[in-house]
Amino acid sequence: MVQKQKNNSSKKIYIKTFGCQMNEYDTQRMYDFASKIDYQESNEFDDKVKCIVLNTCHIREKATEKIFHEIGRIKKFFRNKTKPILIVAGCVAQAEGNYILQREKYIDAVLGPQSYHNLNKVIKKIEEERRKINFTEFQTLEKFDELKKIKNTNTNISSYLTIQEGCDKFCKFCVVPYTRGPECSRSFNNIVQEAKELLQSGSREITLLGQNVNAYNNNSKKLSDLIYALSDLKGLERLRYTSSHPKDVTDDLIKAHRDCHKLMPLLHLPVQSGSNFILNKMNRNHSIEEYIETINKLKLARPEIKFSSDFIISFPGESEQDFKKSINLLEKINFINTYSFIYSQRPGTPASKFKEVPEQISKKRLIEFQDLANGIKINYRKSLMNKSSKVLFENKMTDQKYFGRDEFYNSVIVESKKNIIGKLVSVKLKKFNLNTLFGEIDHYEHESYVAA
Ligand code: SAM
Ligand code: SF4
Ligand code: F3S
Repeated sequence: MVQKQKNNSSKKIYIKTFGCQMNEYDTQRMYDFASKIDYQESNEFDDKVKCIVLNTCHIREKATEKIFHEIGRIKKFFRNKTKPILIVAGCVAQAEGNYILQREKYIDAVLGPQSYHNLNKVIKKIEEERRKINFTEFQTLEKFDELKKIKNTNTNISSYLTIQEGCDKFCKFCVVPYTRGPECSRSFNNIVQEAKELLQSGSREITLLGQNVNAYNNNSKKLSDLIYALSDLKGLERLRYTSSHPKDVTDDLIKAHRDCHKLMPLLHLPVQSGSNFILNKMNRNHSIEEYIETINKLKLARPEIKFSSDFIISFPGESEQDFKKSINLLEKINFINTYSFIYSQRPGTPASKFKEVPEQISKKRLIEFQDLANGIKINYRKSLMNKSSKVLFENKMTDQKYFGRDEFYNSVIVESKKNIIGKLVSVKLKKFNLNTLFGEIDHYEHESYVAA
């Protein structure tokens, strides 16, 4: 891993990340921008910090209240100390910028997710003029242009790389089309360039990100073209992508799963519901039969492939029969991981006008769903015991314990006397819980995946 250079004269900036992987990527890039005006990354919150950015998420309710709670902690910590610059960035800033600026005087600026390339300009303005700033225009193309000029200094073994942002699908429950704006894809060449930089800095695994990653389209180059191109890069061991929409799993993408063995055999394919009536009401634009057909095609192309998914429990209008259809789908596909949440009403979305399912019923359904999902996960994990698995190790924990992930994105912990960070190691799995697999090292060196 390449060590980041430290400059003792720098001021410190601390960015707290909420929400999805794209926000994690954005946080990294905001640090990269801020380093240009001599603000050095701080991974803790102390009184040397001169600027704090809250990189927020608006996907479910209470997001805004969480931010005010966080600001309360900041105010308490900095009482009788010099006030840091406080910027609220991310999707809450986009959705509720003016409201939060007015409600909390401690906030100096709000900065939308498509305008964070203006971070340095905003910091300078606040330093000079101490006035309130609202920067929430959709400047996605300008942002992509600025990102290409600034090196991604991430040195993680497993890195994120945003290739596409925004969403044109307008599912009736979702804020993303309003907070991230319309679909916009980054230039193919810029992505390949950034991937090379990440590999030079020590990354071995890259996860391509987009709110609708498989809708990627840059001058007719699609996600599959990117997968083939990146698979050829020396030093890259593993490639993943998320989050994909079932409607955009095209035949060329399925073929890439067949051809590119660096592309890992786990696909996160959010379905939201097992009922056609609810899918239609959500505006998901596909049926359950089409979803299953896509899964079957992927299995034919890559027999070892497994799936994870997102489910929304109790979308308005979900009857007991509709809910049972989600349960049936869960059992049928055997998802090795699911993320399930009760439907949360979001201001400004079409579903916010729909009549909600009573809370008691929703809570009962969520418990039933998650119990079954955990049962499936436990059975899957039992089937892995005493078998070998290829693990890419990402970091050291304590006492010779190392953390990595297997091909199916399961977290794995082993003990090792040798430093195995960045190594692809064969591990015999011995124990598990719902979060982690524990194993012993079979043999240290594992053959890399051959380029497709
Ligand atoms: N683009 C992806 C797709 O098509 O499914 C999902 C991206 S969204 C950022 C991540 C997940 O948040 C969704 O899959 C959905 O399950 C969940 N989600 C979004 N809006 C929600 C809401 N209003 N209530 C509950 N869950 C929600
Ligand atoms: Fe939200 Fe995904 Fe639907 Fe877009 S496709 S509106 S990001 S759930
Ligand atoms: Fe949240 Fe915005 Fe991501 S709402 S899930 S941070 S795109």
